[in-house]
Amino acid sequence: MADSEVVTNVAASRADIAGLPLAPLNPLPYRQQIAAIRSFHTGFEVLRDAGGPVTRLRFGPKGLFPDFVVVSSPQAAHDLLGAPMYCTDRAITHDELQRLLGESLFTLRNKPWLPRRRILQPVFTKKSVNAFGGHMAQAADMVAAGWTDGQVVDLDAASRRVTLRALGRSVLGIDLDERADSIAGPMRTAMNYVTGRLVSPVHAPRWLPTPARRRARAAARQVHDLAAEILRSCRDDPSHDAPLVRSMMAATDPDTGRTLSDAEMCNDLVVFMFAGHDTTATTLTYALWALGHHPDIQEKVRAEARAIGDREISPTDLPALGYTVQVLHESLRLCPPAPGNSRMVTQDIEVGGYLVKAGTLASVGMYAMQRDPALWERPLEFDPDRFGPEQSEGRDRWQFIPFSAGARTCIGDHFAMLEATLALATMVRHTEFHSLDKDFPVALPFTMVADGPIPARVRSLK
Ligand code: HEM
Repeated sequence: MADSEVVTNVAASRADIAGLPLAPLNPLPYRQQIAAIRSFHTGFEVLRDAGGPVTRLRFGPKGLFPDFVVVSSPQAAHDLLGAPMYCTDRAITHDELQRLLGESLFTLRNKPWLPRRRILQPVFTKKSVNAFGGHMAQAADMVAAGWTDGQVVDLDAASRRVTLRALGRSVLGIDLDERADSIAGPMRTAMNYVTGRLVSPVHAPRWLPTPARRRARAAARQVHDLAAEILRSCRDDPSHDAPLVRSMMAATDPDTGRTLSDAEMCNDLVVFMFAGHDTTATTLTYALWALGHHPDIQEKVRAEARAIGDREISPTDLPALGYTVQVLHESLRLCPPAPGNSRMVTQDIEVGGYLVKAGTLASVGMYAMQRDPALWERPLEFDPDRFGPEQSEGRDRWQFIPFSAGARTCIGDHFAMLEATLALATMVRHTEFHSLDKDFPVALPFTMVADGPIPARVRSLK
């Protein structure tokens, strides 16, 4: 399409939407609205129940504070996340992260992001991921081998160990779990700092070296140093087995032939550790906890895994693990590690039948949408069958988007699903889980994670 046609079409569609009403203002009192956006999982449900699936919040005079629109319907999610790239962009949430961790695929504004994504996309296709993502089964076997019959284990600690080990092996070629203290701790410190700045209405100016800021910077440096060390080992030692780093070193922009600089690779490796660890670990923890309350569902997963035989479960077994994937989808529905996201609207757009003006901050509440009684039958019940082929037929694909959707969708979705599927099948194959706590408490250090240990009694079936 010629540039002039694009301009004409944009002008026409902007004229079309100019007459639409603004999203209705949320009727909750100011303090309740503030509390709700701080807990952007359950808080967005509160906003939805009070103000509908497209609701607007105003925190001060126009021009001083942007309007904030929270959406939780499939159509509105589609309109916002699927909007052309010149209509929305990264928001202040991402700027804060970028200041701390450097320019990465996660934080870059759309314009500089596009070439970076073009280079990295082929590294994360299903096919490439199958080639480097097979370490999860070994990691899961290794962790389960340390358990004794009848022991009470913390599912969250176990899932974190498995995920960190597999991520380290697949991505970096090292045993990250053995360096857990130098990785997981700093990552949590940095995330707590970023989230603290985002949800607090008053913060110290950026130049002030507060103790929290000093700690966050030191933590970010620690993770960066590790990424740089790995990159150096790959350059110095051609036999260093770090498949993802090697793929990144070889990746080129299909349009321009450009490769990634070392600084870009380091920043992206750091963000892969940040974006990939807590999220995948929490998915696995929640799935194991839910199975620990549903012996019948657990048995179905076990039967599927056992049908593969006694050898190590590998990426090629994925087609035989359909029900295990359904269990993970149901876990991601009820406990999406990224419960909400955010965009800055840069051109007036239509969202769910309303006009959302340029300069508005907008957020999709995945948690609120994926638990909405208006969209799901028995929304709080753990029922993996709802993701069976027949039951899924006809469901709006924007109704279930734990990895987000649109141009800035998660690049690690295949990798995460592969890892979680191999780990779940491997762990359940020879171990029976009985969850001991009725509830699954969550915290929001940045992504949604288990808040404290998730105890379960394990019984060996070997
Ligand atoms: C269950 C696991 C995971 C979940 C639920 C998840 C979820 C998400 C979501 C919702 C987004 C989009 C955020 C937005 O719309 O602003 C995202 C982006 C991203 N994720 Fe994931 N993620 C997971 C695992 C991973 C893994 C394993 C990696 C890397 C190895 C990863 C790397 C990224 C990156 C780099 C982005 C930014 C993509 C871009 O803007 O191009 N994620 N993730």
